[in-house]
Amino acid sequence: MGLFSRGGEQRLTEELVMRALSTVQEPELGGDLVSRRMIKNVKIDGERVSFMVDLTTPACPLKDQIQNECIKAVQTIAGVAPENISIEFGSTVRPRGGVMDKAAVPGVSHVIAVAAGKGGVGKSTVSTNLAVALAQEGARVGLLDADVYGPSVPLMMGVSGQQPTAVDGPDGQPMIIPIEAHGIKMMSVGFMVEDDKPIIWRGPMVSQLLRQFLYQVNWAPLDYLIIDMPPGTGDVALTLAQSLQNVGLTGVVTVTTPQSVATLDVMRSIEMFKKVNVDLLGIVENMAYFVAPDTGKRYDIFGTGGAERLAQREGLPLLGQIPLGMSVRSGGDSGQPAVISDAPDAYAETFRQLARTLAARVSVMEYA
Ligand SMILES: Nc1ncnc2c1ncn2[C@@H]1O[C@H](COP(=O)(O)OP(=O)(O)OP(=O)(O)O)[C@@H](O)[C@H]1O
Ligand SMILES: [Mg+2]
Repeated sequence: MGLFSRGGEQRLTEELVMRALSTVQEPELGGDLVSRRMIKNVKIDGERVSFMVDLTTPACPLKDQIQNECIKAVQTIAGVAPENISIEFGSTVRPRGGVMDKAAVPGVSHVIAVAAGKGGVGKSTVSTNLAVALAQEGARVGLLDADVYGPSVPLMMGVSGQQPTAVDGPDGQPMIIPIEAHGIKMMSVGFMVEDDKPIIWRGPMVSQLLRQFLYQVNWAPLDYLIIDMPPGTGDVALTLAQSLQNVGLTGVVTVTTPQSVATLDVMRSIEMFKKVNVDLLGIVENMAYFVAPDTGKRYDIFGTGGAERLAQREGLPLLGQIPLGMSVRSGGDSGQPAVISDAPDAYAETFRQLARTLAARVSVMEYA
C-alpha cells in the first residue's frame, strides 16, 4: 500500500501529521500542541512517522497521556499503524517571563525557594530530594543552601568538608565552581564557614551573601535552582525574601507539618512573602502521616487535613504530602537522599511526584 491510504489517494505528509497533531490539547497549559510549537522534527519514512514533542519541563507529569493522545491522533491518518509511530520527548524550560527589570541569574531559567515558618519541618529534606528528583527526570538542577543558621545541604548530599574552588570569570571577577553530587550543582554556606566559629548573621550580610551565591557561582546552564531558605520570618528571612524578589524569583514552596499548620508560623511566612510580592507556588506537607512498616497501619501522628485546609484558605495548590519514613531520615544523615533509595519508607516515588507537580505548576504559571 506504501504511501497511499486505504480509502483514497492521500499521501502521508508532514502536513497531514501536523494537522492530526493539532487536535491534541496540551492537558495543563491549554491550546494544542502544534499552535504551542511543541511538535518538532516531523519525519516521514515510508509508512513510518516520527516526531519530537518539546515539553515545557522534562519532569512533565502528563507525558504518558500526551504520548497516548498523539498516537491516537496520528492513527486517524489512514494507513498509519500505531507501531509505526515513534515519539521522542525533549524539553525546553523557558525562563520566567516578565522580569526584564530584574537582574535574573544568567543562564538559570527558574529560581525556586523552599521556605517554612519555623525550623525542623523538613525544608532541607524537601529541598535536597526535590532537587535530585528533578535531575532524575532529566532537568539541569542547582541547589543553593542559604540557611545561614544551620546549613545542612553538605551533610544531606554527602559532600561535607568539600571546598569549592574559584576561577577567573569573563570579567576578571572570581567565579566559584559549585560542588557536584547526585547529578546536581551545589553551593552552601556550610562550605564557607567553619563549624566551630559561629557567625551572627544580620540582614544585610545575608543579602550580600545571597548575591554572591547567585551571581558569582558558575551555575549556568540550569533549568531549576532550588534555594533552601533559613527558617522563620525574622530579619534574616525577610531580607532574603526581599532580595529574592529583586532577582526574579519564580516563586516559593512552603513546607509545613500537619501540626504546625495549626500554629501561626506558616501563615506568617506566607504573609511575609506576599508582602514583598513573591509568588507562592504551593504547599508541601511533610511528615504528613506514618505507615508502620511491620503492620502497614497508618497513623496520623500530627493530625490530618491541616495542610489541605491551609492550601484551600490561601488558594494555593497542595503540591505533595510526604509521610514520615525512617529511610527519609537516614538518607539525609548518610548523604544519600531518600529519592535515590528503593526502600519503601524512603518514599522516592512520592518525592518524584512532588517534583513533577511542582515543575508542571511552574510551567503553568509561566504560560497561562
Ligand atoms: N518525611 C520525613 N520522615 C522522616 N524524617 C524526616 C522527614 N522529613 C524530615 N525528617 C528529618 O527531620 C529532621 C529535620 O528535617 P530538616 O533538617 O529537613 O528540616 P529543616 O526544616 O531544614 O530544619 P532546619 O530549620 O533546622 O533547617 C531531619 O533529621 C530529617 O532527616
Ligand atoms: Mg534545614
